[in-house]
Amino acid sequence: LNISIVGVPLDYGQSRRGVDMGPSAIRYAGAVERLKALGHEVCDEGDIQVSAVEKKPNPAERLKNLDEVVEANEALAQKVADIVKAGRFPLVLGGDHSIAIGTLAGLTQTYRNLGVIWFDAHADMNTAETSPSGNIHGMPLAVSMGYGHERLTTLFHNGNFIQPENLIIIGARSVDPGERELIQKLGITVFTMHEIDKYGMTAVMEKTLDHLKERAVDGVHLSLDLDGLDPLYTPGVGTPVDGGMTYRESHLALEMLQEAECITSAEFVEVNPILDEKNKTADVAVTLMGSLLGETLI
Ligand code: ARG
Ligand code: MN
Ligand code: MN
Ligand code: MN
Repeated sequence: LNISIVGVPLDYGQSRRGVDMGPSAIRYAGAVERLKALGHEVCDEGDIQVSAVEKKPNPAERLKNLDEVVEANEALAQKVADIVKAGRFPLVLGGDHSIAIGTLAGLTQTYRNLGVIWFDAHADMNTAETSPSGNIHGMPLAVSMGYGHERLTTLFHNGNFIQPENLIIIGARSVDPGERELIQKLGITVFTMHEIDKYGMTAVMEKTLDHLKERAVDGVHLSLDLDGLDPLYTPGVGTPVDGGMTYRESHLALEMLQEAECITSAEFVEVNPILDEKNKTADVAVTLMGSLLGETLI
């Protein structure tokens, strides 16, 4: 592959500082070298510019740091769209998960029927009305299907939203009431930890791949929130939830995506080095990239 790496040092989509250092922690863990060793051509395109919050937080505002999140995501969307148009594979490093808004807006400039695999402890499907926190990192999936604050749903947009039928959530174990309602209303496929425990990751991934094939998608984006794994393996995240996927299950899932040769873009988000233990979470992110992009032992 010809891979273009883009860092997004954004931490305004949630309330714990430090996730803006995620891209540098992932680079430090050896992402570029790892992918080059697999035979890929890798271009690190650097970071998206993120402006400092200059205003005082306004408690009356429902969405935290909306201006800054919109601005960074517009720049990211343009960058991702350019990378795809150049025939390259976008690999986006977060930053908090609000950056998926920009990544997906950029991808849907080209892809007309994009599949999305959302690997996460959370559904990230809140709107301004349902969000318990006002944190935009809890909203990107809703936004990418056209639900949410209009400054977010219209950002860099041609009206080509993600179809609810093309979305699969894997690893969910913390879902807010408003998110559950939207999931049911739209009929989203969700493999919660319950299904992973009950059927095993192999079956879950087979079902995921079958489903995307049936939908005749023209590309598949993997959005991987490191809090999808159990905090035992990835402690450096801002919203950890116990009872998550293991290191082995996560690697198996990504290896199966590699075998299926279906992924056309990816993002790894929510790595927060301040909360981490000796860069463990960024290290796991890089080993997962290896599995997704072709690493085998023999
Ligand atoms: N559901 C919660 C909220 O809306 C948590 C979201 C966590 N999202 C994430 N990308 N880590 O605030
Ligand atoms: Mn910061
Ligand atoms: Mn999450
Ligand atoms: Mn998330």
